[in-house]
Amino acid sequence: MNINIRRCMISDTHPIYELCHAELGYDFPEAQVESNIRRMMGEANNLLLVAEARGEVVGFIHAHNHEPVYAPPMKSVVALAIKPEFRKQGLGHMLVASVEDWARETGAAGVRVNSNENMNDGLRFYKSMGFEYIKTQYNFRKMLKKD
Ligand SMILES: CC(C)(COP(=O)(O)OP(=O)(O)OC[C@H]1O[C@@H](n2cnc3c(N)ncnc32)[C@H](O)[C@@H]1OP(=O)(O)O)[C@@H](O)C(=O)NCCC(=O)NCCS
Repeated sequence: MNINIRRCMISDTHPIYELCHAELGYDFPEAQVESNIRRMMGEANNLLLVAEARGEVVGFIHAHNHEPVYAPPMKSVVALAIKPEFRKQGLGHMLVASVEDWARETGAAGVRVNSNENMNDGLRFYKSMGFEYIKTQYNFRKMLKKD
């Protein structure tokens, strides 16, 4: 199968929206996914890539800069999803390898990822790519009220 990994374009909004919804469980309006993609495409601290097979977008990865004061700069994978019928053919590895290339090119020390505990595919997948398990964390959130 011929796979093409390329930078995301605005016209990729719908397949990315569907992957976020169906594979990652995020129910976020498509119009807002589109405006996020539009903004991120112009920012050097975000990388959005898609995997195309048979002329169709079947997977994507989003990574961004992770630059805490207490550690060297890293890249952080925020989202990665491949359509079920295109899994186990190396697309996920290709997308993560492209983020590793971006990390090397920009002088980052490595790549990190926070994976959901019920994403068992993801846990095995990252270990098979040489990622080391660090720790399990709690995540907190506070949504701000709009005036
Ligand atoms: C995790 C996920 C992105 C992996 O994508 P993928 O395209 O299937 O990944 P790959 O094909 O590169 O690797 C997956 C497995 O297939 C194997 N594989 C790769 N190429 C292969 C091939 N040509 N033939 C057979 N197996 C192959 C890999 O060795 C790997 O094995 P492992 O799971 O035992 O480590 C995908 O399962 C997914 O979208 N899951 C739902 C969302 C998710 O969990 N996202 C990550 C959360 S952070």
